[in-house]
Amino acid sequence: MNAFPDFSNYGYQVTRELGHNRAGGRVTYLATEINTQHSVTIKQFQFAKTGANWTEYQAYEKEIQILRELDSPHIPRYLDSFQTASGFCMVQEYKNAESLATLGKLTPQRIKQIAISVLEILKYLQNRVPPVIHRDLKPENILVDDRLNVSLVDFGFARIGGGEVAASSVVKGTLGFMPPEQMFNRQLTVASDLYSLGATLICLLTGINSTEIGSLMDDTGRINFKNRLPQLTPEFLDWLQKMVEPNFKHRYPSADAALNALIPLEVVQQRNNSKLAVISVGILTAIAAIFIPLFWKSPEPQTAVAPKRTINSADVNPQTQVMLTDELESTKSKDIWSLKQRKKVYFAVSAANLPEGEYRSYCKVVNSQGKFAAQSQSYLKTTGDRLNTWCWYNFKQGDKPGDWKFEFYLDGKKIAKTSFKVLP
Ligand SMILES: Nc1ncnc2c1ncn2[C@@H]1O[C@H](COP(=O)(O)OP(=O)(O)O)[C@@H](O)[C@H]1O
Ligand SMILES: [Mg+2]
Repeated sequence: MNAFPDFSNYGYQVTRELGHNRAGGRVTYLATEINTQHSVTIKQFQFAKTGANWTEYQAYEKEIQILRELDSPHIPRYLDSFQTASGFCMVQEYKNAESLATLGKLTPQRIKQIAISVLEILKYLQNRVPPVIHRDLKPENILVDDRLNVSLVDFGFARIGGGEVAASSVVKGTLGFMPPEQMFNRQLTVASDLYSLGATLICLLTGINSTEIGSLMDDTGRINFKNRLPQLTPEFLDWLQKMVEPNFKHRYPSADAALNALIPLEVVQQRNNSKLAVISVGILTAIAAIFIPLFWKSPEPQTAVAPKRTINSADVNPQTQVMLTDELESTKSKDIWSLKQRKKVYFAVSAANLPEGEYRSYCKVVNSQGKFAAQSQSYLKTTGDRLNTWCWYNFKQGDKPGDWKFEFYLDGKKIAKTSFKVLP
């Protein structure tokens, strides 16, 4: 016998504790479902033992209610609930993953990938009608497995829809991660979770413990982090700054907007003499779809020219062309593809009228459900005022027919896009 509660009457055997929140009277266990031998998570609300109040009990019931309605592979599914003498228990799918609070140091590129995954989950929550606001996003509630799959847990404080929060006078959430509007019990918006994600990312990037994020806050309530992260690009730091703007009106309006702004950004400053190198950051999910940029007629390594990042200036107006072909170097363009044929799609991009220099290029494929199918980045150098490159995408199992999109960016600016039809 171990010291864990005996839930065998309910069909579960506890194996270990996953989390313990004494103040809130909650303990989370890893358990085995005796019949199936599946691992599950049991969150126990020790109502009687701790004298926790009804507000917290209601939070617990609310968590069940919200979870039951959600259907995402990145949110552990609600399975069951039962009541014992010592408390109320909720059984949930177990994710073999560790929370960001205990995961240890991650590279900035990995942190960007995690940010993208969390924003995808928030996008799912925000696209629901009415939207779901998590309200307690922090390293402890974001789980990451060894393949960098991300899950969001702990919907105990979540609420459906923004609206007035007057009904509860109790401020819920975690200090340091709560945006000012939540701290002062004002109306929450979908941008409230963006603040908490921003604060979470700052913890991960600076290596600051989640309990110490308050130490970065100045008198005006702003989180000061830029001087601690000199290795990161100004564009990425600006993005992060916008996530944690005290006034929610100055943040991104939604997870989708924050995601689109983040995707093309380079995170770490490149040294000036970076050679023509394929930098493969962030293949979003570990899928068979590989998306490799190739250098088309790329010259032999030369002395690298200093990057000229003039693509964003208004007077630069590249003429671009994208061609979809089913063979490399083919000149026959194709707009309709079929999943059955399982062919690779090559995207041939050519741009002219560009200032000479080195550019950060970025290719993105969006599937018929509006989700990223693949992305990739690389550095490309112009030949004269021209630049030519190829990317390819391999259709994979689970891909759905419909209208797909391809987008191409240089130094963060979208310079070409095209859509193509995918048949079953
Ligand atoms: N479904 C799950 N799969 C794996 N680990 C989980 C799961 N749910 C929670 N955990 C772990 O248990 C901890 C506590 O769970 P959580 O729901 O956040 O409870 P609390 O309300 O006490 O914060 C989390 O930080 C996480 O490490
Ligand atoms: Mg938690």
